[in-house]
Amino acid sequence: MEVINDSLSIRNGRLFIEDCDAAELAQNFGTPLFVVSETHLRNNLRRYKAAFESCWPEGNVCIMPAFKANPITAVRKILSDEGCGCDIFGASELEGALRGGVPAKDISVNGSIKDRATIRRAIEVGARIVLDSPNELEICQQEAKALNKPARVMFRLKPFMENLTLKSDFAPDFEIRELTQLIKYGVPTSELLPMGPRAMELSHIEPIGIHVHMGRHSKQLEVWQAWVYHCVMLTKELSDLMGGWSPKHIDFGGGFPSFPDTDTDVMIKRYEGPELEEYAQVITDTLRDTMNLVGLSCKGVVIEVEPGRGLHCDTGIHLTTVKNTKFEQMNRPRRWAELDTSEVFLGIPGLNEEPPFDYIFANKCDLENEIETDLVGQTCNAELLFNQVKAPTLESGDVIALLNTGAYTEPMAANFNALPRPGTLLVCGSEADMIKRHETINEVYSRDELPIRVLDRLDNKREVGHSQIA
Ligand SMILES: Cc1ncc(COP(=O)(O)O)c(C=O)c1O
Repeated sequence: MEVINDSLSIRNGRLFIEDCDAAELAQNFGTPLFVVSETHLRNNLRRYKAAFESCWPEGNVCIMPAFKANPITAVRKILSDEGCGCDIFGASELEGALRGGVPAKDISVNGSIKDRATIRRAIEVGARIVLDSPNELEICQQEAKALNKPARVMFRLKPFMENLTLKSDFAPDFEIRELTQLIKYGVPTSELLPMGPRAMELSHIEPIGIHVHMGRHSKQLEVWQAWVYHCVMLTKELSDLMGGWSPKHIDFGGGFPSFPDTDTDVMIKRYEGPELEEYAQVITDTLRDTMNLVGLSCKGVVIEVEPGRGLHCDTGIHLTTVKNTKFEQMNRPRRWAELDTSEVFLGIPGLNEEPPFDYIFANKCDLENEIETDLVGQTCNAELLFNQVKAPTLESGDVIALLNTGAYTEPMAANFNALPRPGTLLVCGSEADMIKRHETINEVYSRDELPIRVLDRLDNKREVGHSQIA
């Protein structure tokens, strides 16, 4: 048996996810299909928890996985079972987190432009609100007063890392310090400073902490060090203006690289980087040192992180079946394998020079990959998913596994060509259960409405047409 990672292995020439034969799963449950490994997810989560807990004895650690990375209820239930909180964006994710059994007090309602109804709902259930603008603070006060409940709030800061000139892995032409300022998220510092004292005046506002999210700009420890340092320095400024207020929760957001570092939205990846445990060490050391330096107390402070890609990416694979093969021997010799998946299910462009995902020929792992083949998707676009990759001789019915599709891929799937979106299967050991069924064609059209006006015109035309024929 060849072990690939915590969930994948090759046994007798076939790919297994946990103890399930991937090609058999494809046959039994239908493709295209997302598959998530429960064991792998739990392992990743425990690794995050252990990494931060081992270097933050001052207080608790709460892992708050980003809901957007995998919003399926069963996945969320597993994370709730592991004692996680949750980072959510908007009303619909808030409902998803509640359905997924996340204790309301551990839900962070993040994001810009929160509407009044979302804020009201958050206060009603007891979730905390991460403030993105002074306007949200006022709405929180109004809604909390009307509900006669406290609004537990955190300030989302935009620390400026003035001496850091490193460029972003997302957008390598730009400096991280610029991008973290230009992005819309967070309270602009000039608005933050008056907002702190204002929060203290308001009867129903309970400021519990601060929040920052840099994003997956860099794997370099010095970037994280600068980020935490400037976060604390800005917190100190806020604290002074708030009469010595001190945060009880400090949330550093997400942006940690996934373990295989293969995220399709990052330009600069797969370079040598630190282990997760090193991030935890640098973040907690810098936090402790800087808080001590400026006289803020670390005692009892809860550290939170919100991994999305870092937690989910390698817990999932995507299975697709070869539906047809074609072979040109004249003009420009070429071979194609037509797959039942698509760029629109995978959140990638359809003309890829480099393979967008690692891949395994699930039922042909032990055959030589010696034939250059284009693996193409099924929509009417060019769909050149894998350009001239080496493959064994592929036939209809062969199954290909795309790896590391556990974060963001499924929730980004779209319905181009009116295609129903793929379902998701959860495996644990040798058990496999659908946790999101395949979409149906009826569901693809289920939101369409036909105004009477449009129907009437069609009927009139039909009548005219009939009378002309008659
Ligand atoms: C507030 C917040 N937290 C966490 C995340 C997760 O980020 P990542 O998947 O890079 O870990 C995001 C992603 O956009 C976010 O906006």
